[in-house]
Amino acid sequence: MALYSEKVMDHFRNPRNVGVIEDADGVGEVGNPVCGDIMKIYLKINDAKVIEDVKFETFGCGSAIASSSMATELIKGQPLEEALKLTNKAVTEALDGLPAHKLHCSVLAEEAIKKAVKDYYDKNGIEYDPADFPEDHDCEHCHVH
Ligand code: FES
Repeated sequence: MALYSEKVMDHFRNPRNVGVIEDADGVGEVGNPVCGDIMKIYLKINDAKVIEDVKFETFGCGSAIASSSMATELIKGQPLEEALKLTNKAVTEALDGLPAHKLHCSVLAEEAIKKAVKDYYDKNGIEYDPADFPEDHDCEHCHVH
């Protein structure tokens, strides 16, 4: 069996939603404590708190690029609460799996999205449950080591 699924290869070769949103409503940047790679997510959020547009920049490996691409596809057009429920497991499943030693790459996407939503809440004075937003580099949370 190939190491990477066809979906991973597809999203790696043709990543969706790559780029920057200049007037983003929320921006989240995270670094991967395992490898040092970086991911940045930009969200455009409308008055109904639905994600109208999302873009990402990833300075990381192929699995991180594929995970970011898939994650942005999964949250585009979704209400914020749904985007917050996105887990790295869901992203990995949508990609038909990642090799075990690459699972940590998919955590970047989940954390960057959460951080971008938190940024939006902070900028707009919207209350939230801090438990929904684990601290950066909280490796207890991601269980990937
Ligand atoms: Fe760094 Fe994949 S090796 S995100």
